[in-house]
Amino acid sequence: MEGKEIRIKKFSTQDKKRVKAFLDFNHYVTEEELMLAENRRRTPKEEERRLERILKATNRKEEALLFVEDEEKIVGTVKVSLRTGARSHVAEVSSLIIRKDYRRMGLGKRLMTEVIATAKKELKRKPKILRLSVFAVNEPAIKLYTKFGFNAVASIPKQLQYKKKMVDETIMIKII
Ligand SMILES: CC(C)(COP(=O)(O)OP(=O)(O)OC[C@H]1O[C@@H](n2cnc3c(N)ncnc32)[C@H](O)[C@@H]1OP(=O)(O)O)[C@@H](O)C(=O)NCCC(=O)NCCS
Repeated sequence: MEGKEIRIKKFSTQDKKRVKAFLDFNHYVTEEELMLAENRRRTPKEEERRLERILKATNRKEEALLFVEDEEKIVGTVKVSLRTGARSHVAEVSSLIIRKDYRRMGLGKRLMTEVIATAKKELKRKPKILRLSVFAVNEPAIKLYTKFGFNAVASIPKQLQYKKKMVDETIMIKII
């Protein structure tokens, strides 16, 4: 990986056309069968609409999508979204994913550092709480979140499915 240009970027208008790169990442993710609540293979049209929706929310400062890029290839993502109504002091962190061949290089940590800074500085309100959901058996992710000060505050039995088995969901929060 030495010498390659690996960058973290914030999804913005100029990335709207990169439907194919995001779709390739989505197809990679669905093939690897990761422990993700939302793990469905999207069509080009669905991906285009999803990116349009994210861009609108980004422009309203309600959401941010960060991605890791190796030259033109997308190799990682994370998203933060402000919640609404009685939960308007909470932001949800989701879609933290690094491609297998890019793991254990510190990119997950870089994305988490950046997404927390973004949540604090770039959303239209500064959230008081960051919240995320993780499969209770996802040890690498739980270790990473714990390093960033997230605490497990709830466990919901058999809330998620992984390879046709029901597994517990862990809710983690970080007060910021
Ligand atoms: C979780 C994930 C994003 C971590 O990304 P990464 O780039 O490999 O993480 P980093 O290299 O920055 O490692 C950060 C810390 O996470 C923990 N960690 C990462 N992978 C680990 C593993 N396989 N086993 C144990 N701990 C691990 C370690 O504490 C590590 O710190 P260290 O390197 O100082 O020991 C990555 O494993 C991934 O994409 N997994 C599949 C998708 C997924 O499950 N996402 C979480 C959804 S909630």
